[in-house]
Amino acid sequence: MVADLAIRNVPEKLIFMVPPALAEHLATLSPPKPEAEKRELGQFFTQPPLADFIASFFFRPLQHWRVIDAGSGGGALTLALVRRIAAQRPRPLSFHVTAYEVDDDALALLRPALGTCAELCARHQIAFTFEVRAEDFIAHTTAALDQALFAPELRTFNAAIVNPPYRKLATGSPTHRQLASVGIEVTNLYSGFLALLARVLEADAELVAIVPRSFCNGPYFLPFRRDFLARMALRRLHVFESRTAAFASEAVLQENVILRAERTALPPATVEISSSRGDLGDSIRSRLLPWSEIVQPEDPQVFIRLPASDSEHAAVASLSGITGTLADLGLKVSTGKVVDFRVREHLRADPEDAAHPLLYPCHFEAGALVWPKLGGKKPNALAVPAERTDLLVPVATYVVVRRFSAKEERKRIVASLVDPARLPAKTSWLSIENHLNYFHAAGHGIDPTLAQGLLAYLNWSVVDAYFRHFNGHTQANATDLRSLPFPTAATLRALGQIVASLPSFPPQAELDALVSTHCARAPR
Ligand SMILES: C[S@@+](CC[C@H](N)C(=O)[O-])C[C@H]1O[C@@H](n2cnc3c(N)ncnc32)[C@H](O)[C@@H]1O
Repeated sequence: MVADLAIRNVPEKLIFMVPPALAEHLATLSPPKPEAEKRELGQFFTQPPLADFIASFFFRPLQHWRVIDAGSGGGALTLALVRRIAAQRPRPLSFHVTAYEVDDDALALLRPALGTCAELCARHQIAFTFEVRAEDFIAHTTAALDQALFAPELRTFNAAIVNPPYRKLATGSPTHRQLASVGIEVTNLYSGFLALLARVLEADAELVAIVPRSFCNGPYFLPFRRDFLARMALRRLHVFESRTAAFASEAVLQENVILRAERTALPPATVEISSSRGDLGDSIRSRLLPWSEIVQPEDPQVFIRLPASDSEHAAVASLSGITGTLADLGLKVSTGKVVDFRVREHLRADPEDAAHPLLYPCHFEAGALVWPKLGGKKPNALAVPAERTDLLVPVATYVVVRRFSAKEERKRIVASLVDPARLPAKTSWLSIENHLNYFHAAGHGIDPTLAQGLLAYLNWSVVDAYFRHFNGHTQANATDLRSLPFPTAATLRALGQIVASLPSFPPQAELDALVSTHCARAPR
């Protein structure tokens, strides 16, 4: 373990040699590192306007701030918080920050930034102290939490500000094991940071963080959601509607949220959900919503729902009367069984007598199956024996939804129909590739009228907006689709009958009007 960095012994003169404006600039400059090294460190720095916005989330005017900035980089967030508390009334008496950082280049930027903090505090008669810990926040804090004989002392704080590193954590990696040793089950470094911060904050302490939105849904983050929400009450969540805006210069394509949470086991009564397009200076829309709308009491997945935009909010209201589940319809949704690179030797570019149709997203156009697609990039068939039910499904009617939509695409849920009439008559089996989810009845096809109704419902713009309120990324996984509310079979059949009677699948506006009359209504 690396001991406290000797920065505390840096002569003041040295600290103040850098003019404050330059220090501020330095703190937000990503060091010119190779991309791979930055990715490994999960490193991208917050620019001052965004840092100021993040710091503005703190609510409580503390007298004595004892702050932790974990993964401090060049100290942009601490600097912004100092700027904020310098203007706080009543004026705080002291400000202490403990900054953890592993990267020497970042530490070199942190020094002048802390100098600027000291200067700002001195100007406002606030006692400023700091401790730089040039070491791994996770290794150090998990060791302290472990309480082993020679474990470091566990330090606690009354505020935390953080833009943690984002990187997947491999199961069994040293960091993963350290976190597991204190009961933290996470798949990404950033959720590990948040889970640890929740453990080093004192009662009622505030945590303000900018993190990817991915923790809000999806099965991988479920243990984290449970753990975090048992310790922290979310008070405010801010969503950037544009996924590139927050860290535009760093090519970060994650959709980010800023959150403020308070260390208490009591769930909040209400949460402020705010949103802005992404450019700072844009107007901010804000709503105070009951906690039960953010995390539904009966939701086994503990999704954190963020109806941020007007359309998402309206969608939640529109679907509030629909309380059925996919299971109520006797249906399931699964990910396509074929991972093509694992069955490379069985892939066939063209249909063959002994091969079964293989369906990729490219085989669907305007909601309908178009097979085969000859001369394209994707294979059209899979040559395996009919016994390979791990790869095949019986030819029948299914509804498929693409798992990935392109960033610029208007809709996240793009559903299409697998209509057996569009396949050669003698075909008995087909295979669905892994980039598609498919709705089925316990492995078999769906009644065609029900399937048509389901197709119309899933393609309804309101369902898409509803989906976005709990899914902030471009993936539509089976778990997410399973979490949608579904109308009754009778409603879907009625809808299906109308759709089937039309000469072609209706364009979006027409479809929206049609589904709205059947599905958007007051609670049953
Ligand atoms: C996303 S950057 C944010 C930096 C700074 N907070 C900001 O907002 O500009 C995360 C920082 O965490 C540092 N880091 C990565 N892993 C770390 C670890 N295990 N312990 C401490 N710092 C770490 C990286 O070097 C990087 O500077």
